[in-house]
Amino acid sequence: MSNHRLSNRVSRYWARTALLVSSVASFCTFAGNRTLAISEGQSRLTATLGNQDWSAYNGQVSGDHYSPLQQITRENVKQLKVAWTFDTGEKGGLQTNPLIIGRRMFAFTPSQKVVAVDATTGRLVWVFSPEKPGQQPSRGLAYWTDGRQSILLAGALNNLYALDPATGKLLPGFGDDGKIDVRRDLGEPDVSHSFAAVTTPGIIYKDMIIFGFREPESQPAVHGDIRAYDVHTGKMRWSFHTIPHPNEAGYETWPPEAYKITGAANDWAGMALDEERGVVYAPTGSAVSDFYGADRIGDDLYANSLLALDANTGRRIWHFQGVHHDIWDRDFPSPPALVTVRSSGKTVDAVAQTTKEGYLFLFDRTNGKPLFQIEEHAFPPSTTPGEQASPTQPVPVTPAPYARQRLTADMLTMRTPTAHAWAEEQFKTFISNGLYVPLSVDKQTVVFPGFDGGAEWGGSAVDPKLGVIFINANDIAWTGGLTENKPGGGAGATIYQTQCSACHGSDRKGSPPAFPSLVDVNKRLSDQEIAETIMNGKGRMPAFTNLDMPKLMDLIAYLPVGDLTPGAESAGGRTAVPSEALSKREVESSGNPTTVAKYRFTGYKKFLDPDGYPAIAPPWGTLNAIDLNTGKYLWRVPLGQYPELVKLGMSDTGSENYGGPVVTASGVVFIAATIYDHKMRAFDSSNGKLLWEADLPYAGNATPATYMIGGKQYVVIATSNARNQRGPQGSAYVAFALP
Ligand code: HEC
Repeated sequence: MSNHRLSNRVSRYWARTALLVSSVASFCTFAGNRTLAISEGQSRLTATLGNQDWSAYNGQVSGDHYSPLQQITRENVKQLKVAWTFDTGEKGGLQTNPLIIGRRMFAFTPSQKVVAVDATTGRLVWVFSPEKPGQQPSRGLAYWTDGRQSILLAGALNNLYALDPATGKLLPGFGDDGKIDVRRDLGEPDVSHSFAAVTTPGIIYKDMIIFGFREPESQPAVHGDIRAYDVHTGKMRWSFHTIPHPNEAGYETWPPEAYKITGAANDWAGMALDEERGVVYAPTGSAVSDFYGADRIGDDLYANSLLALDANTGRRIWHFQGVHHDIWDRDFPSPPALVTVRSSGKTVDAVAQTTKEGYLFLFDRTNGKPLFQIEEHAFPPSTTPGEQASPTQPVPVTPAPYARQRLTADMLTMRTPTAHAWAEEQFKTFISNGLYVPLSVDKQTVVFPGFDGGAEWGGSAVDPKLGVIFINANDIAWTGGLTENKPGGGAGATIYQTQCSACHGSDRKGSPPAFPSLVDVNKRLSDQEIAETIMNGKGRMPAFTNLDMPKLMDLIAYLPVGDLTPGAESAGGRTAVPSEALSKREVESSGNPTTVAKYRFTGYKKFLDPDGYPAIAPPWGTLNAIDLNTGKYLWRVPLGQYPELVKLGMSDTGSENYGGPVVTASGVVFIAATIYDHKMRAFDSSNGKLLWEADLPYAGNATPATYMIGGKQYVVIATSNARNQRGPQGSAYVAFALP
């Protein structure tokens, strides 16, 4: 990047910050009586006042997780102390990257309450409780302002709320008395039983919020359209069909009329915005059902695609499909990052997209041309009846993947001889041939990196001065397979096997701790609690609003019994489903189409040894720095530890990590993300040296935010232990600053 561009970017940054600081100041103290023209003078004023907001999800709409702050340096970072802690008083999961505007932090609690907290003391200012408490992950909020007026936009379950940032009160002019139901405007006949939730916040462009949403992984699922809404009225301004309708480009990559029956292809990971050009970059996930695509033969555009859309109209400018006809749940898992690089002697404005597979794709963001070569490689066909895998998939030639991709016998765990022997026995029963091997019926296939990447929803950080990207990655193996849906077992069994078994397993034993066992769930939870979990979802479990009361009762009766003998009836002598219902689409009494596909996924299974550690050799999680000008790695270090293994001398294992890094102008990379060691860390961006680490009350499975108020730089991280049920349960935001 040339110095000219950098200085442009930084001054834009300061200008925007000046505006925000002024607007917050106006509602806090000055009663809005100042004119808020952006001027050089004001930028300087802000700089001298020593304020720096974190005004968008991950810092800036460009998605680079970069902060111009320099107070905390490589030298003094080891003096950081806890400045304040805000305990939400709730158990559950917290994945929020909060906003900090003026003196306030806007954030979520695990039950999706929105809170405003004094960002210098951690004192609670206001709370907004959505009508239904949800347990969906709330990764952040969106903030709009024109300097006079401000709006906070927060998703909870299927609603998007517009709040007054000063008071936390609903802004009644937006949609339906301050909220919109995001399931509307999708061209679906009836959405009252559908599930869609804005778990990653939308992005603000002019007076619009552009967003995608989370969806179920199997039928029924709504269309994953990407849409823009007016921030004042809550009216839809444009919509892009990720599953094309007749006469739209890409329609031919599906069976005819597929858009009527299939769903998802949704952007759940967030977006990046080139504000100057008015282009939004939106990565999408797979179409339903994730693992068996017999009813969606073809490439399935624009599932698994990076879309460049005109932010004013939603018109597609270019796209790149990362996985054709995805049958492995290889969603693009992270928001893209905008960066400027040198490529073939020229300065190019680029967009970087990471993947679960461990790939990094880099494109000229004006036209979608790859800056590192991408080749279509051949992969094996599917052996499952009805399925047709794509003959090829795109593979970037550089950079090298940041996670291992093919598990071989010499890579199994050596932690103890017993663990090794066990892993060898298991491994012999698996198919392990690297990426894009279609899953087989009644056999487990190694998926490596696992279903959770590679890269994950935390995204990556980019140092715009250096053109270097920092990517944290998981590096463990999972397995998956298919099995035929056989009739019998009763109505509850059918619902369980089609909608729940992918995560909780055909045998209901799950894959703890990520996916809890439901065997004896009735001894831990009341029927009411089970029903609420099913209706509202929890953590990574989507809500199953498609189930009406009789179905819910059948399902709850089935959970503790789990009898799958053909023809057997579940508890209470309920009617068995006729066998023909298992192979065709049927319109159920709720009017909601439901597919019972011929094959189903047998469950997300981590390849763990009998003691619960990854059954492969470390590193199990890493932090990587790649120079985007050359595609070369600058450094790569293990990220995370298992405290009890450290005591045994295994300190460089790395661990699974969720949540992303932040990089500052002073060359410090802040990251928590690791599950088991409850640490926040700072690395030297130039060489990967660990500069500092501190204990957190729970795991920091979120992306930090850094900001400055009154000349003091803070770094804040959301912490919780939803991913480690054996750890203490609770959740808190913890802010650090120099003494
Ligand atoms: C996409 C994966 C996924 C699917 C599909 C799914 N679940 Fe879950 N479920 C989870 C996860 C993950 C948790 C743990 C959530 C947490 O505690 O954060 C969970 C938790 C639960 C719990 C609470 C268990 C406990 O001990 O607290 C129940 C009950 C449950 N699920 C039932 C179901 C039923 C019934 C279905 C089908 C209608 C279903 N789940 C479908 C992933 C899933």
